[in-house]
Amino acid sequence: SLKANIGDYQFDNVLLNAAGIRCATTDELDKILDSQAGGCVTKSATPEPRKGNESPRMKATALGCINSMGLPNHGFDYYLKFAEANQNKAGKQVILSIAGLSVDQNLEMLKKIQASSFDGLTELNLSCPNIKGESQIAYDFEAVREILTDTFKFFKKQLGIKLPPYFDMHQFDRIAEVLNGFPITYVNAINSVGNGLIVNPETESAVIKPKGGFGGIGGQYIKPTALANVRALRLRLRPDISIIGTGGIRSGQDVFEHILCGANLVQIGTQFGFEGTKIFDRISRELKEIMDKKGYQSVADFRGKLKTL
Ligand code: DHB
Repeated sequence: SLKANIGDYQFDNVLLNAAGIRCATTDELDKILDSQAGGCVTKSATPEPRKGNESPRMKATALGCINSMGLPNHGFDYYLKFAEANQNKAGKQVILSIAGLSVDQNLEMLKKIQASSFDGLTELNLSCPNIKGESQIAYDFEAVREILTDTFKFFKKQLGIKLPPYFDMHQFDRIAEVLNGFPITYVNAINSVGNGLIVNPETESAVIKPKGGFGGIGGQYIKPTALANVRALRLRLRPDISIIGTGGIRSGQDVFEHILCGANLVQIGTQFGFEGTKIFDRISRELKEIMDKKGYQSVADFRGKLKTL
């Protein structure tokens, strides 16, 4: 079976969409909930609706994509309403993603969630790389400690944190030390590899318009970085903190690798953008085939069991 859980929440399938891809409207979110996926994640919300950055702001390549969307979304109330209305589907969870442009905006949305009837998982996105003039909060470890200190003064529901990729062993040590000090339910590793640059040699130009062409990289480019982050965090976080693995998944084998590194669930961004909801059938089939061949009955049989030489 491909069942998994995070905290108290049961998922019939380990596969979810990654925030940002085909999940900005209730129509898109309904399609994910009607698919094989174990649930859906909503486009990261800001307190008010936003149009986002100027176009072109996303470009696909053979190996993945670059984006600088700038948080186009229908506003927090729209996604909270969807989450409240869709929270009682057995085995399918709605994860409500929020990405305020300031600490105050995040606390304002978290207070509304606390006061609402939504009792599912909230994903606090501390890693958006695409807002002009703003830095990715999760690269400032003391800022993470402060926002979580303020949050858990009033927030009693279950919270996950969306992290950016880290690249240095000391960064893994420091973020884990901060996160282990709070009652978080899960971390999601990783967001896009921030502020990459893709060049078109023909036109001698950047391929997206915002920020002079700099944007978050997703897809095959980032799988080794994603696996390293899942593994490094699994080795450092409290055992009761679950991990969602995100980054570079386009086959059942990629999911198998994420789970070996310690992922409880996985999310698919770039490749879900390319294929749509039928990807959840294909990858479920591929993962089951690998598990059958190896004699694994459940994902728990190999989760976190990566060998080293
Ligand atoms: C956007 C991109 C991200 O990687 C993210 O975490 C949040 C928002 C965006 O540009 O819309």
